Amino acid sequence: AIERTLSIIKPDATRRNLTGKINAKFEDAGLRIIAQKRIQLTKAQAGVFYAVHKERPFYDELCEFMASEPVVVQVLEGENAITKNREVMGATNPADAAEGTIRAEFAESVGENSVHGSDAPDTAKDEIGFFFSQLEIVG
Ligand code: CMP
Repeated sequence: AIERTLSIIKPDATRRNLTGKINAKFEDAGLRIIAQKRIQLTKAQAGVFYAVHKERPFYDELCEFMASEPVVVQVLEGENAITKNREVMGATNPADAAEGTIRAEFAESVGENSVHGSDAPDTAKDEIGFFFSQLEIVG
């Protein structure tokens, strides 16, 4: 089925000017960027976005990092977009990421891993709504 997923190009990647190279990976995989904006999160906003990880030991560091520099948030659309995006990103830890994936090529560490992607249809819907209004999504 045609799905939509929320993608974030993280501060380690925007800092290294990798937005275009990462977008090319998405587009080459058949994912369409149907909404996109560059923003800088506050630490509090990052905390709300990642609230599911609140009890994890890396939560504070994660929120600090996500607020440290601009991010590019985007909605990707395509056949099985959620799974396809996760394949293109590769494993969370770049040491485990398959060759050719975004994280294998660009990520610096498990924390600074260049991209985020929604993990399921219900979280995709919530995460898209966190960043975008319906008017901003042009499918
Ligand atoms: P993401 O897909 O954005 O969802 C939660 C993030 O937490 C994850 O990617 C990683 O960047 C980060 N994360 C997961 N495990 C660790 C860890 N052990 N140390 C630091 N950050 C982590």
